[in-house]
Amino acid sequence: MKASELKKLYIDFFKSKGHAVIESNSLVPEHDPTVLFTTAGMHPLVPYILGQKHPLGKRLVNVQKCLRTDDINEIGDYYHHTFFEMLGNWSLGDYFKIEAIEYSFEFLTEILKIPLNKLAITCFAGDDDSPKDEVSANVWKALGISEERIVFLGKKHNWWGPPGATGPCGPDTEMFYWADESKPPEKFDPEDDRWVEIWNDVFIQYEKTSEGKYIPLKQKCVDTGLGVERVSAVLQGYMDNYKTELFWPIIEKIQELTKKDYQDNKKIMRIIADHTRAAVFILGDERDVVPSNVDQGYILRRLVRRVIRHMKMLGCEKSMSILAGEVISIYQTNYSSLNSKKEYILGELEKEETKFQKTLEKGLKEFEKITENSNELLGKDAFLLFQSYGFPIELTKELCNEQGIILDKKGFEREYEKHQMLSRVGAEQKFKGGLSEASDETKKLHTATHLLNEALRRVLSSDIKQKGSNINSKRLRFDFNFDRKLTEEEIKRIEDEINRIIGLNLPITAQEMPLQKALDSGAQAEFGAKYPDVVTVYYVGDYSKEICMGPHVENTKDLGSFKILKEESSAAGIRRIKAVLE
Ligand code: SER
Repeated sequence: MKASELKKLYIDFFKSKGHAVIESNSLVPEHDPTVLFTTAGMHPLVPYILGQKHPLGKRLVNVQKCLRTDDINEIGDYYHHTFFEMLGNWSLGDYFKIEAIEYSFEFLTEILKIPLNKLAITCFAGDDDSPKDEVSANVWKALGISEERIVFLGKKHNWWGPPGATGPCGPDTEMFYWADESKPPEKFDPEDDRWVEIWNDVFIQYEKTSEGKYIPLKQKCVDTGLGVERVSAVLQGYMDNYKTELFWPIIEKIQELTKKDYQDNKKIMRIIADHTRAAVFILGDERDVVPSNVDQGYILRRLVRRVIRHMKMLGCEKSMSILAGEVISIYQTNYSSLNSKKEYILGELEKEETKFQKTLEKGLKEFEKITENSNELLGKDAFLLFQSYGFPIELTKELCNEQGIILDKKGFEREYEKHQMLSRVGAEQKFKGGLSEASDETKKLHTATHLLNEALRRVLSSDIKQKGSNINSKRLRFDFNFDRKLTEEEIKRIEDEINRIIGLNLPITAQEMPLQKALDSGAQAEFGAKYPDVVTVYYVGDYSKEICMGPHVENTKDLGSFKILKEESSAAGIRRIKAVLE
């Protein structure tokens, strides 16, 4: 079964069970200081899992673009990916374990027609935080799964979330498929690789606090996730996701360009195919990301440079745009934005390739020279490779690993800090991070962002539109279209305007309405962002109205005093403001 058919069947099935279809969110999450990319379908839904009402109801389904970067170096096996598509269905305080499992079972056995004897299950074994999940096991048994095919495991395996230190989480039950041609054994051994995990039903019922406590949530939710690539592969009889139609044309192109065989170069070719696909999706995202040394741009740079180096290892140069073209052909039907942004995507990749190709050869020579008589690479040398030859530290580390050389990574970090380039370190920490933080500080800054958005239009130009926003507990960052630097006087006028509004003690209220009605009423919407058919509009008194998910403070009097710290260029025609509340 092709991936596109799997996606359609899944969406149609959950629609028939009363689920509303939501659009895939951007790969770059908004208002989330803790992660750089959307890592799971539940990620954009966190405010709703925590109790906010979703405009489309309590049952949702979607295909979400996800990107996981916790360990880019893992890529190369048959089933891990940086970018992937996740099918998910959610219950926001509606059905719980019984129906969730029944739906999963019905979809697997009746829609996908997987025979019962090819399925096995794991459930949560229980610990001090949460009891053994007998309920799930009993539901599975009632559906016909034999006792021998159900295994109870601990938190490491059967607990999901929070991805960061705090947030919603709970026990899960995972479904496994016998992906081998041989007869499936009666007894399920989760250690046997021929049992491939295909779906995860998470029963979100706790919020983990910063003290490590698990507090029961007011509403119990279901969050499920099924990886499109993996499930299509096993249903097509492949124990290799790269053999499916989602990757094979890219692999064929790599074989053609390098005149080498996949069989002999699996790991390298998988890295190239995986990273090219991820880079195309990052560049093709609604939020414009370009290769850089910070945040999402740094990840993009790492992915692209790793492709370039691996293609070079296979003896091929200048191939980024050819490979990216293959990715676009595979996905353009489902993701039309890849096609409309094709020129931009290929252009950015070519620019990055040209930039890196100039220094890669020299950098590799320098690396050889430095390590010729030594089995250690000093921090200062790694920094030289970074600064003068554009080698991301992870690339240098990979070179060191390949040649048995010890890298002084700490020394590199010291050099890095010395050069006051802390952003990348921050970026690394962010991927390890978790979910939307809704602390009082971020809430206040979020409301202040709405005021800034409106004040810019009133003070500078009515053509101004939000082009991006990022909030953490310390500051807000706001990007908007404007083609020149702001004067000091303008900055002061914007600050005064916002502080005047804050002083009016305006209430913040929210109202749900159809998207078109919201737009017709003049509510602000982020340029290029996708919205569901029904949205929430947040009002700050009658000063600002904006489509948004919240959360916000209740009254502007909670905000304190607004101050702009910095105004700079972010890209051509885009200015960036960083501001704080004091
Ligand atoms: N959030 C869960 C996961 O990522 C289920 O979607 O596996």
